[in-house]
Amino acid sequence: MNLNTQFELIRQSATVAMADRILALKAGGRNIIGLQVGDPDYGTHPAIAEAALKAIQSGLTHYGPSRGYPDLREAIAAKLKRDENVIYDPASEILVTHGGIHAYYTAMQSILNPGDDVLIPDPSWATHSNMAIMLRGNVIRVPAPAENNFIPHFESWEKALTPKTRIIVLNYPSNPTGAYPTRDYLQKLQGFAKAHNLWIVSDEVYGSLYYGGKPTCAAAFEGAKERTILVNSLSKSYAMTGWRVGFLAAPASVIDNALKAGQNSITCVAPFIQKAAAFALTDPEIQQVTARMRAGYAHRRESVLRIARELESDKVLVTPPQGAFYFFLDLRPLKMTSLDICERILDEAGVGLVPGSAFGTQGEGFVRMCIAASDEDVENGFRKIVEWAERR
Ligand SMILES: Cc1ncc(COP(=O)(O)O)c(C=O)c1O
Repeated sequence: MNLNTQFELIRQSATVAMADRILALKAGGRNIIGLQVGDPDYGTHPAIAEAALKAIQSGLTHYGPSRGYPDLREAIAAKLKRDENVIYDPASEILVTHGGIHAYYTAMQSILNPGDDVLIPDPSWATHSNMAIMLRGNVIRVPAPAENNFIPHFESWEKALTPKTRIIVLNYPSNPTGAYPTRDYLQKLQGFAKAHNLWIVSDEVYGSLYYGGKPTCAAAFEGAKERTILVNSLSKSYAMTGWRVGFLAAPASVIDNALKAGQNSITCVAPFIQKAAAFALTDPEIQQVTARMRAGYAHRRESVLRIARELESDKVLVTPPQGAFYFFLDLRPLKMTSLDICERILDEAGVGLVPGSAFGTQGEGFVRMCIAASDEDVENGFRKIVEWAERR
């Protein structure tokens, strides 16, 4: 029987493969420090769960509006105004989605035609290119080298441009590097997109997790809104990964298409989840909780940097992440593949990581270490990685 040949171009997620291996080791009684999964170790705040329960008890257990409840769309528009100073019309420019991944899916479904060239930095979260490939786009990777703090040299965008280029995909703060560019850089990139009539799809799911100056929203420039599509979710910022709720903010013409993509793939996000999301986005106490989680990640980030200074390894090179909750550790001095490194660190030091090559060829020789784990696990895990590398 015929299968969709597009899937031959997509590799199985290395993150999932590592997670399976770790589960197997744990089942066999091994003590593993899991720093591989990008899922907050904080629980969802009980008041958010209560809002969902109340909605269930009040009978919101049937289909809901595909676009999202008006109160949730208003809460999203208010959040975008409050945090990013961008104005979106909740009636026509916002769609509630099944997490950030589905926001990205509906965005790409809405604008991508088969054979379009899509520019995506390397390294980046694998779904960005996999989704474009699933939709029969042609992905061109734009190097974002460690030597340039994981931001593409501007000339690299120009070099990658072809007559078929239609879309730039950004993700800042970045998974896996935590990097984000300056406001000036983004402004220049918007100018580039305008000059070449390109969409900018900006995945900002880590937008509220930053450790220095606030990253700039890609749409926060004069005239940028008409060519920019914002992907976001409550997963990381509100510790709600399992709730599967996110949103898309885009020009009404894009939302019209995205709504059709949503209606014909998921119908709607569960109504009681939507009610919980509206509560999370608007309740003042919950915003404090989010700020406290960010402070927790900042503390762990500092611990890793302190241990790095103390151990002075020339085998594990550390670029301080500006945002998100990952370190993209440079182990290129070991001259091993990142898959080998991860497998051996797992077997010999008992620490679960993700190979940098899962994020693109620029990630070869790197590993992604997630700090969304307990302080103790982050500190012990990082020490074990360095000690393992020093023994090579
Ligand atoms: C860059 C990036 N975008 C989107 C997502 C998906 O988020 P969600 O759980 O909201 O679908 C992830 C999850 O790891 C991510 O790293």
